Amino acid sequence: MPPFSTSVPVVQPADLRFRCIACGDLSDSATQNFRCAHCGDLLEITYPRWQEAKPSAADLKSQWRNRRLSLSTVDLSGVWRFRELLPAIDDQEVITLREGNTPLYELPQCARITGVPRLYAKHQGMNPTSSFKDTGMTVAATFARRAGFRWVACASTGNTSASMAAYAARGGMRSLVLVPEGKISWSKLSQALDYGAVTCQLRTDFDGCLRLLQELVLRAPVYQLNSINPFRLEGQKTIAFELLEQLDWQVPDHIIVPGGNLGNSSAIGKALLEMRELGLIAHLPKLSVIQAEGANALVRTLREAKGERLISVQAETRATAIRIGNPASWKKAARALEATGGACEQVSEIEIAQAKAEIGAEGIGCEPASAVTLAGMKKLVQQKFVKPDETVVLVLTGNLLKDPEFTIEFHRGELFKGAEGTSAMDRLRRPPIVLDATLDAVIRTLEQAEKS
Ligand code: F0G
Repeated sequence: MPPFSTSVPVVQPADLRFRCIACGDLSDSATQNFRCAHCGDLLEITYPRWQEAKPSAADLKSQWRNRRLSLSTVDLSGVWRFRELLPAIDDQEVITLREGNTPLYELPQCARITGVPRLYAKHQGMNPTSSFKDTGMTVAATFARRAGFRWVACASTGNTSASMAAYAARGGMRSLVLVPEGKISWSKLSQALDYGAVTCQLRTDFDGCLRLLQELVLRAPVYQLNSINPFRLEGQKTIAFELLEQLDWQVPDHIIVPGGNLGNSSAIGKALLEMRELGLIAHLPKLSVIQAEGANALVRTLREAKGERLISVQAETRATAIRIGNPASWKKAARALEATGGACEQVSEIEIAQAKAEIGAEGIGCEPASAVTLAGMKKLVQQKFVKPDETVVLVLTGNLLKDPEFTIEFHRGELFKGAEGTSAMDRLRRPPIVLDATLDAVIRTLEQAEKS
């Protein structure tokens, strides 16, 4: 008997409905590819229970705060702590690694560089597998298991695969990873391997992997855990809930996120609108998306096609996490930008590397894709879209250790060797120094460093 001859389980929680973002069709269950059965566009999750009885903002705030003292497994999760605004499930069914609970850091040096004193970083690299993907994965993996799936799968630039593999392992499921060969960092690949995923390095790019996965899920009972899966985005909403709670519900003027497949900007946008609808916040911050110049599909879509159709690109960037040319959630993200009045900008490879080193010099660090936020913010300040007296939060999506190759090449001066416009980066470089093992040699080095 072929392994995949079983019927396909259906993920169908009772308390929510799937709504097509284009034609508005409402349904109780979603197809395997999470596309509208009528028009083929993406689905989002809605909660009819809010129509009957809107949760009270004051009650939610105090309940979420009180849970921080609790020792129960779901309350210790920085995602499930906000479960009133997530799909409902029994506590014992949750697959969690205590995701979320990520710090909000001040960035005093970057604040001086940009001339914006109230500058913060919401560091999603401090999640269990070191990227923001865990916040969505805990929810989507939980519902995959609840529906009875044995296999979960994703296409990935690295972080999704690491996260999915971990949550599948915790939940007793098998996982299948499709990644572009040679285009993801060793750190991320090693995570997927260690967590036991069946890892396929395909001779294509991320967009090719995702296309193939979309076909696979229609042929085999594997559950798709890319951000097309609306359960992922429900979990990722909690990044914004937790951020606002950390700011004591004082709304920042700007939230700036990197854009790749555009799931995260969509999720944060949805969270902001829901928080306003429920009275948790009185007004919306501006949500802005930054892309690498070499993977700027949303920038071009908004500038050249006024957001009416997607302009795909052949993606190329060393920020491999966002090396994506055909972003699946572009329409959701474009709507989030429109609803909040946010901007969409692009930054060069050199600007990304410099911003990454500046964040590193704060003692925080992040991966290249996260650093586009600071690089993009500098442009938004120049354009006076961000003003010096405003509060800005950068969402750092992945940990520094996710891509050590990039960091080492940068500090050794191997990145962009001979390229124009790299002199501003020289003061940030800290190449490793090879010395004889003598006290004199070390003291001389110390003295030179003190002078420079
Ligand atoms: N930052 C990092 C570190 C990422 O890994 C990703 C996406 C993004 C930003 C962009 O987020 O896709 O929601 O717009 N990584 C995916 C992956 C595509 O497979 O790990 P997005």
